Amino acid sequence: MSSRTYFKIMKDQLQQEFIAIYGKPAANAFFSPGRVNLIGEHIDYNGGLVMPCAITLGTSMLTAPNNDGVFRFRSVNFEDTADIPLQSSYTKENSCWYNYPLGVIQHFLNDGHQLQGLDMLYHGNIPIGSGLSSSASIEVVTAFAFNTLFNSGYSKLDLVKLSKWVENKFIGLNSGIMDQFAVTFGEKDKALMLNCDTLDYEAVDSNLGDHVLAIINTNKPRKLAESKYNERVQECAAALKALQQELDIHNLCDIDTDTFNKYKHLITDAVVLKRATHVIEENDRVKLAAKALAGNNLAEFGRLMYASHDSLRDLYEVSGKELDAVVEYAKTDTNVAGARMTGAGFGGCAIALVKADAFDDFSSEVINYYTAKIGYAPSVYSSLIGDGVGILS
Ligand code: GLA
Repeated sequence: MSSRTYFKIMKDQLQQEFIAIYGKPAANAFFSPGRVNLIGEHIDYNGGLVMPCAITLGTSMLTAPNNDGVFRFRSVNFEDTADIPLQSSYTKENSCWYNYPLGVIQHFLNDGHQLQGLDMLYHGNIPIGSGLSSSASIEVVTAFAFNTLFNSGYSKLDLVKLSKWVENKFIGLNSGIMDQFAVTFGEKDKALMLNCDTLDYEAVDSNLGDHVLAIINTNKPRKLAESKYNERVQECAAALKALQQELDIHNLCDIDTDTFNKYKHLITDAVVLKRATHVIEENDRVKLAAKALAGNNLAEFGRLMYASHDSLRDLYEVSGKELDAVVEYAKTDTNVAGARMTGAGFGGCAIALVKADAFDDFSSEVINYYTAKIGYAPSVYSSLIGDGVGILS
């Protein structure tokens, strides 16, 4: 089924659901994807280079105005519902899913935009907690919808920054800008080469040749992921501070591996040194990966993916036996060019570049290997690299 047909069916089904809930049809529909990151992990908040792609899994949002001055939140995926009156300020409510849209609304209000009551229905097909950015997807779809419906005049880049604000200030995760950027600016069959310091980017052909991108969800429930993520952010800040004793830099990624090697003695904490080593070397790997992709050198690209994974496992310590099991299997399969964990880690998803005609074999073999080792099965998807946020038509 083409993605266009799929989205049409999805929209029709959601419209039926909307009518069942609200007794009237939705007037507008929007969609924002999730993302995978090909390489450049834990780099965005260090001002370096990343290479994410939007995927065809994502969050749909149907809306209709109401005259009651109320924001009504409903989701096909979650039982929690909320009817929240239009007021000037909101705070995060427990760990409910609608905190993400509520944070977006808060930002619109902070900027003085006039809003009106809205009935909303969300549907996501990104597995929750899978590291494919379901949170950026819901933030960005909401920001895009409100910007469109209330003529708020934000640029696409404003929407990215606004959604990052929600994550950082409303939700409390000190994440970088990669996810929100990727789900906003993603393009079909392209990877984004994004400089997270300047926010310059280029959409490059994701030349996978006769390979496809496989996404393997470990299905490991993520625990403590947020606190560990924020801990890594702090460790990188400590490394930067140590280097700034002698170097005039603003981000860890302002220096390459050679310069780092000359100054790394300034970092006295062994753990902080490991984290910084990952960041600097990973940033250099992204530069090599971009060259490999441009030169259709998938073998080199794959080698860099494996190196990235090893570094995230040993130096950054954000992998785990589940993600490692997927990559271990991939290394034994001659139809796989490369594999690595993607996203924050601590569970979530791995990606692999798999020969298209061997995808089914890969899928059943990795499931067998993983299940024997971990005790439950992973889910395997063949991903399509899709477009960024937009109107669902
Ligand atoms: C999460 C964050 C991103 C990025 C990745 C790791 O997805 O939201 O900002 O830091 O982890 O690369």
